[in-house]
Amino acid sequence: MALTALTTVSIGSVCAQPWLGARPKASGIGFTCSKSFNVFSGLKAASSVGIEADTSFLGKEGNASLQASFVPKIKPKQVFLNQLHPRASSFKVAVLGAAGGIGQPLGLLIKMSPLVSALHLYDIANVKGVAADLSHCNSPAQVLDFTGQSELAKCLKGVDVVVIPAGVPRKPGMTRDDLFNINAGIVKTLIEAVADNCPDAFIHIISNPVNSTVPIAAEVLKQKGVYDPKKLFGVTTLDVVRANTFVAQKKNLKLVDVDVPVVGGHAGITILPLLSKTRPSTTFTDDEVEELTLRIQNAGTEVVEAKAGAGSATLSMAYAAARFVEASLHALDGDRDVYECSFVESDLTELPFFASRVKIGKKGIEAIVSSDLQGLTEYETKALEALKPELQASIEKGMAFVHKQAVNAESA
Ligand SMILES: NC(=O)c1ccc[n+]([C@@H]2O[C@H](COP(=O)([O-])OP(=O)(O)OC[C@H]3O[C@@H](n4cnc5c(N)ncnc54)[C@H](O)[C@@H]3O)[C@@H](O)[C@H]2O)c1
Repeated sequence: MALTALTTVSIGSVCAQPWLGARPKASGIGFTCSKSFNVFSGLKAASSVGIEADTSFLGKEGNASLQASFVPKIKPKQVFLNQLHPRASSFKVAVLGAAGGIGQPLGLLIKMSPLVSALHLYDIANVKGVAADLSHCNSPAQVLDFTGQSELAKCLKGVDVVVIPAGVPRKPGMTRDDLFNINAGIVKTLIEAVADNCPDAFIHIISNPVNSTVPIAAEVLKQKGVYDPKKLFGVTTLDVVRANTFVAQKKNLKLVDVDVPVVGGHAGITILPLLSKTRPSTTFTDDEVEELTLRIQNAGTEVVEAKAGAGSATLSMAYAAARFVEASLHALDGDRDVYECSFVESDLTELPFFASRVKIGKKGIEAIVSSDLQGLTEYETKALEALKPELQASIEKGMAFVHKQAVNAESA
């Protein structure tokens, strides 16, 4: 499972899917955008949504009474959930840190996916109530709760995708690196359990600092002899979601059309939106590039400061994480056309881990998309070089954390 087993692909032309990110156009590499996924966000362009009332999240009766009492002339077309029936193939998803600010809305969004047969919610406390609450939603996934270390193994057995938002969030004045000391230990412990109980699962790491927690996870999995770089993902989808939103606002574009690849890492200057690769093709002044890049890099801080001590991004993060889960489930389901940005083991640059667009298939990452890094502007080239030392240091910090713990354990 060496990294070199991964291939890199070039995509000449990429089109955006509102929920699932960018997917390549037929030109050049033989993929097609024509097939739409059944998404559960309801955020598809109106033209591509043809959901009938009896498959909505309100159910047949709910919609019937709505129609009768409030909207007699309009047949509801676009609703939040498009299927109450489980798909022929469906998957088990575990959320670790499920009672938290991200975990709760993320659990709700995953519960709404027809691709999920079981949703396992784990936390060190307060998860029973979350599970009881979610279990009343009339969507197919069965919700089970697991509290504390003694129930972790049971939570993870047979799971296809593990999502990890466990840990502490940032407070004003803190950087993502300030979280390292607490979250590094949490991620290490959880990954040890993943290695022991569901080593073949896709692992989505949300806990910050992602630039270090993903290398921590990789080292733990290596020590356990079950590391598959194709299945370990740092979730950077929020950077893409933000970039798409801010660019659409700035350039007055239709939101669902916009796709901006974001590469590098997931903290400060390591977040590098490649505005020159925006689809649809868009021109930016130098001032716009500077302003948008800084806003995307500091968007997390924007939320931390607005919440004034009550945490960091939770709702937009849950939305982004759910998009990444849904993309992974479609890949596991055999869709051949799934592309997302993620912080993964990579040979695109000299750094061992790097965020870029990746092609995801049934067995994990099938290819790392190299074309986004070709033909960069001078601004992007300089920013790419500037981010490398910081990203390298964060990666090394994560690896060193695991090695130090191993040495301590041996000498204890
Ligand atoms: N990747 C991203 O883009 C992104 C964005 C926002 C936040 N985050 C990160 O996500 C993490 C969670 O943020 P939040 O706002 O949900 O925090 P939160 O404090 O609201 O929730 C964290 C949850 O983790 C649980 N937890 C703590 N230790 C645990 C353990 N050992 N095992 C299982 N669960 C444990 C807590 O009980 C809590 O319910 C933070 O590290 C935050 O920095 C990442």
